[in-house]
Amino acid sequence: MQMDFYEAIEKRRTIRVFKGPATEEQLKNIILAGTKAPSAMNKQPWEIIMVEEQGIIDQLAELKYELTSKSLPAGAMGPEEIKERALAQKNSFENASIVAVNNILEWEKSVWLCIENMSLAAVAEGLGSGIVLFWGDEKEEIEKILGLPEDYELTAVLKIGVPGEEPNTREKNPMGGRRPEFSWLHKNRFQK
Ligand SMILES: Cc1cc2nc3c(=O)[nH]c(=O)nc-3n(C[C@H](O)[C@H](O)[C@H](O)COP(=O)(O)O)c2cc1C
Repeated sequence: MQMDFYEAIEKRRTIRVFKGPATEEQLKNIILAGTKAPSAMNKQPWEIIMVEEQGIIDQLAELKYELTSKSLPAGAMGPEEIKERALAQKNSFENASIVAVNNILEWEKSVWLCIENMSLAAVAEGLGSGIVLFWGDEKEEIEKILGLPEDYELTAVLKIGVPGEEPNTREKNPMGGRRPEFSWLHKNRFQK
């Protein structure tokens, strides 16, 4: 799909409900776009796993459920809300193509550029995507499930597919709206 670059930037929003996976061709286009990203010393430190086995996808979804359940601040929200949010994270793995993006240890930064390229390419393919982060025991567990060698680690999991929801406007993001444009811009030195 031809699309103006800035339009693609605006259209890229995190999707957490999917109604169908990407086609094999779309997924390959997206992954190829990812691997065109710049990388420190041109190391191209990404290893990308297309996760197709439902059993593995279910394990990833369950681990995200457990991680979210114990990570959300119990002081700031009640147990029902925590459960609801954890379930939404788990359910977001349904009906999507699941891609685990991994990096060589100590070489994570460039892989995030690969992930952003993939997120934008998904838009160009008429699809939506969502990044899922893992850390701690759950991240290690996934690395075992995916059979990562010791000198690699999981960067993030990307869900890609046909959007099944219309995202809120950027201003209504429940995690907080966008900061005002240029409120983050400084000249010469950091200004408070
Ligand atoms: C490093 C990183 C980790 C993220 N992890 C998660 C996650 O685990 N689950 C999730 O639902 N969204 C995750 N997101 C998506 C953010 O919540 C989202 O980008 C942010 O709220 C802004 O919304 P937008 O992407 O629609 O502009 C992550 C995004 C980034 C960049």
